[in-house]
Amino acid sequence: MIQEKKKVLLVFGTRPEAIKMAPLIRAFNDNATLFDKRICVTGQHKEMLDQVLDFFKITPDYNLQIMEPKQTLTSITAKILLEFQKVIDDFCPDYVFVHGDTTTSMVAGLTSFYSNIKLCHVEAGLRTFDKKHPFPEEVNRRITGVLADYHFAPTALSKQNLVNEKVKEEDILVTGNTVIDALLHGLELLETYQTKDFTQLKDRIGTEKEVILVTGHRRENHGEGFVNICRALKLIALNHPDKLVVYPVHLNPNVLTPVTEMLAGVENILLIEPLSYPLFLWLMNRAKVILTDSGGIQEEAPSLGKPVLVMRTTTERPEAVASGTVKLVGTDVELLVAEVEKLLSDAAYYQAASSKKNPYGDGTAAKAIVDFIKKI
Ligand code: UD1
Ligand code: UDP
Repeated sequence: MIQEKKKVLLVFGTRPEAIKMAPLIRAFNDNATLFDKRICVTGQHKEMLDQVLDFFKITPDYNLQIMEPKQTLTSITAKILLEFQKVIDDFCPDYVFVHGDTTTSMVAGLTSFYSNIKLCHVEAGLRTFDKKHPFPEEVNRRITGVLADYHFAPTALSKQNLVNEKVKEEDILVTGNTVIDALLHGLELLETYQTKDFTQLKDRIGTEKEVILVTGHRRENHGEGFVNICRALKLIALNHPDKLVVYPVHLNPNVLTPVTEMLAGVENILLIEPLSYPLFLWLMNRAKVILTDSGGIQEEAPSLGKPVLVMRTTTERPEAVASGTVKLVGTDVELLVAEVEKLLSDAAYYQAASSKKNPYGDGTAAKAIVDFIKKI
């Protein structure tokens, strides 16, 4: 008897989701005899999403193309809700996969639930227990957790958060984070990677100066937070003319505008456009210290042994803090400057913050997820 293929639909919309879903797409491709797989991108991001799709050679079956300049949470929510329903009606999937904590994930999850389709949540169970930090992601992932039928938790701690919320143990699988699968794959491809933009980047960074790498985009840092971050970066750059502060600036105008206004023209600060994933991996490896409010970078940096100062007051990634490479510092100017000074001047302190132990797994998360779905 010929067994019918399970119909799976993977949905994502932003840069980090695309990076973290890419390994799962590969794993489903490896099992094409068992699964009829389709990919839907909401297009919550555009250029930053396209960079990842290009690198991982992902061709979406559906693109909702919802991004607009200065989009609001409400406008993204309303557009995805209506447009994603059409995809569900067209494909009639057995399982919908969403990732993490974006508005794309939460809304695709809600639409799937309304349509009685099994929802699978990748990177489930992360919590800060503070609904305003990160905003709106903490609430997005809690809602997605309520909607989901199967929960793929990266660590034992994220599983425990779900168990505490009365999710049944048999519906949770601890997998590690697919970001490690993506990282290992990316590093492998990088070994033979030769593109014009890669050569240009290497030329612009040079080999002489140590690099302080910066990224930032969180909504709760918009306004005063970014003003403080920029003040701190300026001081750090002035104190260290022998270092190069490199900042691939997020395309959100709430970030791009203040950062450009405050930092363009500072001699040893290099403001650049968002980098494609392999180039960013290369730059993380090249960096001495990383300053960020990103979630994914907190997970990647321990693999590369790079100290990360997190410009936030809370983190849903306490495992990375426990690993020693990640430290929460917020956006206070003096504190940020002092923490960077400490890492640059105290070799023993730096050493302790750069061990290469990663609590987020060994790069087999996607396979574990697909194996689970094969069995249900
Ligand atoms: C979104 C996610 C956040 C995730 C982040 C990753 C939500 C609510 N937010 O935040 O969880 O951590 O992505 O980067 O889901 N833009 C472009 N081109 C792009 C991408 C963005 O121009 O390729 C600009 C647009 O003007 C857009 C704005 O950035 O309106 C904001 O994008 P949005 O997805 O709403 O918020 P992010 O801050 O990117
Ligand atoms: N990243 C990238 N290019 C950049 C900056 C970041 O490819 O210029 C990658 C980074 O390696 C990580 C992810 O994007 O995997 C993080 O995305 P972001 O900080 O936008 O979102 P978050 O992880 O905070 O949701």
